Amino acid sequence: MLGSDEVLHSMARVNQIIENADYVSYMAKIEELEKERRYCKHGFDHGLNVARIAYSYILERGELILSKEGIYAAALLHDIGRWVEYQTGEDHAEVSARLALPLLEMCNFNSESIQIIITGIREHRRHCDSNLTPLGEALAIADNCSRACRYCTMQLQCHKFNPEMKRIVY
Ligand SMILES: [Fe+2]
Ligand SMILES: [Fe+2]
Repeated sequence: MLGSDEVLHSMARVNQIIENADYVSYMAKIEELEKERRYCKHGFDHGLNVARIAYSYILERGELILSKEGIYAAALLHDIGRWVEYQTGEDHAEVSARLALPLLEMCNFNSESIQIIITGIREHRRHCDSNLTPLGEALAIADNCSRACRYCTMQLQCHKFNPEMKRIVY
């Protein structure tokens, strides 16, 4: 049943992250810097879509590599460094991993989970055939599948687009 105490409780640390002042400020910077962007944006809705797809992908694979909360935390944090990439050119996967660390420590994920999450964030831009950790692979796949390309007017200009992306996979 949606809203049971157990479900709500299990997402407590994810809710702590999205209410954290640093997280909120990173998201605000991304929103501001993407105001004129015509390609996919990287706001809260993108993080949440990636979380839900990555979680269902991992469930379907049947390997429980991390708690649901940990998977959601990774997905919600995987692009938080985008604003730095826009300003300095530094790869946002690296920046996001760096910025995610204190947020994960703040809400008491254990060191093993933090290591898995940080590695997954670092890997999320790589090709899913390139020997990624299970979480990195789930994030990379969810990142692509989260985009509703079918009616996008930027298809022809988008370097990520291929006709396969018009189909529903997840
Ligand atoms: Fe990304
Ligand atoms: Fe992304």
